[in-house]
Amino acid sequence: MTSEKALSRLLGSKNYRDLCPDTVRREFEKQLTRQPDAARAEKAARERLHALSLAFMTPGEIKAARACLAAYAEGDEGALLRALMLHASTRERLSTYTELYARLKEECGDIQSVFDAACGINPLLLGSLGFSDVLGWDINGAAVSLVNDWAAAAGWRVRAQCKDVTLSLPPERFALALAMKLLPVLETNEKGSAMALLRGIDARLFLVTFPTRSLCGRAGGMEKSYSAWFEAALTDEFVLRSRFLCGSELCYIVEKAH
Ligand SMILES: C[S@@+](CC[C@H](N)C(=O)[O-])C[C@H]1O[C@@H](n2cnc3c(N)ncnc32)[C@H](O)[C@@H]1O
Repeated sequence: MTSEKALSRLLGSKNYRDLCPDTVRREFEKQLTRQPDAARAEKAARERLHALSLAFMTPGEIKAARACLAAYAEGDEGALLRALMLHASTRERLSTYTELYARLKEECGDIQSVFDAACGINPLLLGSLGFSDVLGWDINGAAVSLVNDWAAAAGWRVRAQCKDVTLSLPPERFALALAMKLLPVLETNEKGSAMALLRGIDARLFLVTFPTRSLCGRAGGMEKSYSAWFEAALTDEFVLRSRFLCGSELCYIVEKAH
């Protein structure tokens, strides 16, 4: 099979066709440099793309969340929580998000604009909590559409775009940027990309969070190792304002020292 054919098969495949095409292309080309056989490179790219995105929300879960949106539009307010259960990251945050965002508002004051990098469906939480002027980017285009359709139904000033934060960043300045449970995903895929992201985003304050349990629920020293890595990676460009645990999420608020 030629590499063009393998790439177009990957771009059009049922599970991967909603992912950002630039990301799919990059992962395939990266695999091709390691593995000249196009079919094997395609298989390896599928595995990487699964780890980057689909492991957190599958196409089946998107479909179920769409049914929740239909129920929400008919007046079923509980449908929002049911939808938030369908992305692994918001599911893990469901019993603690009130506390987390109350603390964020307390520490950061009046937050005018928010960039949620690799947002998943977290902007639904932000909209429901009254955050306005929220922009989220994620490579999962189906999650992005769900966020936009839900925000339109609810009348929130929340929008999302299907974009890869390692390939470009929004040009505008934000009061606050969120990098929630994201840095380990980026750093595992490309060394150096996590801190490059924080340096690249034009924002004064950042909420950076880490999981302290794996997707299958194991702890295995994650809090200790992510703390050590992140605190060592923070250079003079960033001032650490606070560190706290919220449920199973390790949270940092950092300020960019301009
Ligand atoms: C662990 S989840 C975190 C989701 C969200 N930040 C939260 O905490 O609720 C990782 C998310 O990053 C997205 N993602 C992975 N790599 C990305 C990239 N390079 N650019 C944008 N989104 C990315 C995935 O699709 C997935 O939704």
